[in-house]
Amino acid sequence: MSERRRFAVLPRLGVTPPLHEVVRSSLEAAIARAEDGRAAGPDASPPLAVLDAGCGRVSALVPFRARIGRFVGADIHRPASGSLPHLDEFVEADLCREADAFAAGTFDVVLSSFTVEHFADPPSAFASIRGWLRPGGTLVLITVNRRHPFVAAYLGLPARPRGRLQRIVKATAADAHPLVGACNDPRALRMALEAAGFGAIRSTSVGHLARAWGRSLPGYLLGLAGDLLAQPYPSRRSTLVVSARAPLP
Ligand SMILES: C[S@@+](CC[C@H](N)C(=O)[O-])C[C@H]1O[C@@H](n2cnc3c(N)ncnc32)[C@H](O)[C@@H]1O
Repeated sequence: MSERRRFAVLPRLGVTPPLHEVVRSSLEAAIARAEDGRAAGPDASPPLAVLDAGCGRVSALVPFRARIGRFVGADIHRPASGSLPHLDEFVEADLCREADAFAAGTFDVVLSSFTVEHFADPPSAFASIRGWLRPGGTLVLITVNRRHPFVAAYLGLPARPRGRLQRIVKATAADAHPLVGACNDPRALRMALEAAGFGAIRSTSVGHLARAWGRSLPGYLLGLAGDLLAQPYPSRRSTLVVSARAPLP
């Protein structure tokens, strides 16, 4: 069975909605909100600025490129030159430590996609991101959910076997980053975001294991079992999509 056919079966098995649809609609809402703010502001409002925080090499913001005036990516690792053509600017920074990487109020929207599980100090990263957002700006965050039993087992493995397993389920060894999972359940995430000063926190969850592990048939079947197991229990689905807003003054 091809990878495409495997994934096409998932909605029919009740593993819905797909993560990319939820992320896309969260980003659409965040960007539309920023555009509305611009339309109501003075004519000389600066163009829309977005940050992909922990950008890696792919970004869910790319489909919105035409609506973005300044597209910045930040990551602890510098990418190969020319590998991020969608960005206007790349900044090498440790988001947990470098609160001064950007000036306060720089961005309308920040995306942080599959990064929180790698952060050594999520509260500190959230506080920095909140400061980098303009008042009323939105953070969209995607991360794994420790309340899913497979995710908990995976994160609970000792570092060495976990690292080996991660290299098998990831597309490339370059995608296998150290995992911490310090803030990876819905409650911990909400509390950390509130403590960092975010409001209007909305959290949703999707089953994403079959898609994430589905490059090989055994990985797909294991992921599918995990997705079906958690599908009736939203707080236990594998993947969280959270949006949160920096407060207005
Ligand atoms: C699993 S990848 C996700 C990449 C991309 N956002 C995506 O959705 O495909 C995690 C990324 O977070 C970055 N990262 C991890 N810890 C970081 C930190 N403290 N500061 C900045 N980037 C970090 C890694 O270098 C890596 O590019």
